[in-house]
Amino acid sequence: MEALPDGELECVEGAVVHALDTNDHRGLTILGYGEVSVAIGWPTGAPRWALKRLPPFPDRAARRRHIELIRRYIDHLTAAGVGVVDTEIATLERDDGALLAYLVQPALDPATLAPAVLAAADPAHGHPLVDAVVDAVLACTDGRCGIDAQMTNWVWSDGRVSNLDVNTPFLYDAEGRPELDVGVFLAALPAPVRRAQRRATAGIVARWRRPRWALLDCAMNLYKDGLDAWVPLVIAAANPHLDEPLDPDEVARRYESEAKLWVTMHRLERLERWWRRRIRRQRYEFLLSPDTHYARRRHVRPTSHPGGSA
Ligand SMILES: Nc1ncnc2c1ncn2[C@@H]1O[C@H](COP(=O)(O)OP(=O)(O)O)[C@@H](O)[C@H]1O
Ligand SMILES: [Mg+2]
Repeated sequence: MEALPDGELECVEGAVVHALDTNDHRGLTILGYGEVSVAIGWPTGAPRWALKRLPPFPDRAARRRHIELIRRYIDHLTAAGVGVVDTEIATLERDDGALLAYLVQPALDPATLAPAVLAAADPAHGHPLVDAVVDAVLACTDGRCGIDAQMTNWVWSDGRVSNLDVNTPFLYDAEGRPELDVGVFLAALPAPVRRAQRRATAGIVARWRRPRWALLDCAMNLYKDGLDAWVPLVIAAANPHLDEPLDPDEVARRYESEAKLWVTMHRLERLERWWRRRIRRQRYEFLLSPDTHYARRRHVRPTSHPGGSA
């Protein structure tokens, strides 16, 4: 990947700060809103890079730890044979002292992102990327490593999948506790919720080290992207590898409860943004999507046959 020229990150941060302070993202080329971060295309208008800004860190040691964790995570996935999109990490100290870090990746061709590949394919014929994602999950989930395997996190190129979402590394200690400090990400939420959520979030993060959960998550999130017809194919690809098979009803039910959770989170983030900006007169440091994808799709009917509904 071509390196980001010197001084360019300051320009990116300037554009982000403008978007944060005006609540207007139109000056940025947004490649995608995830639930945690936003991929910003740079340069604006004709992006060559995708930049993902991590939340400001409380001190240099915390930033160093997070960057080291991302690097270790990428090494772990790569060693397990799971492709990862070329990812550099660039740091920046803003004039007001805020300690920032950005993940820098090549801006990928939108047609190669897994949801677009599946949307363009015929579920009746299947697609080799489904098995490739299942294989990747099975290869890297070993108790100490997990993966967010939803289709929005994969790119399909030259007949293989690579993961593009390493902002929140899923590495765990011997007791299964996440190494990730969720604190910087929880800063998006109102303070009382943040405190209550800290333990709950660590528990939620711990789920991704289990292959069954990672595959269930992959299957259910297809509903979010309107790829219902692919749900049975992911279930069929996953089940031969699972002691407790995935069931279409379970997948649909879990999706609905997950959608509810993310819609609530998004509401709380908007509330915190209002509180910070209007009442505290401070900057809210997270670029929120105008609308979470889950809000558009809250209820689903289980799909059990390729290409159709139940
Ligand atoms: N390198 C990239 N090139 C093009 N689009 C990207 C790239 N990285 C991410 N995206 C888009 O942005 C979305 C959010 O990025 P992601 O890293 O998955 O964030 P999150 O951790 O919030 O899920 C992705 O699902 C994808 O659609
Ligand atoms: Mg993602």
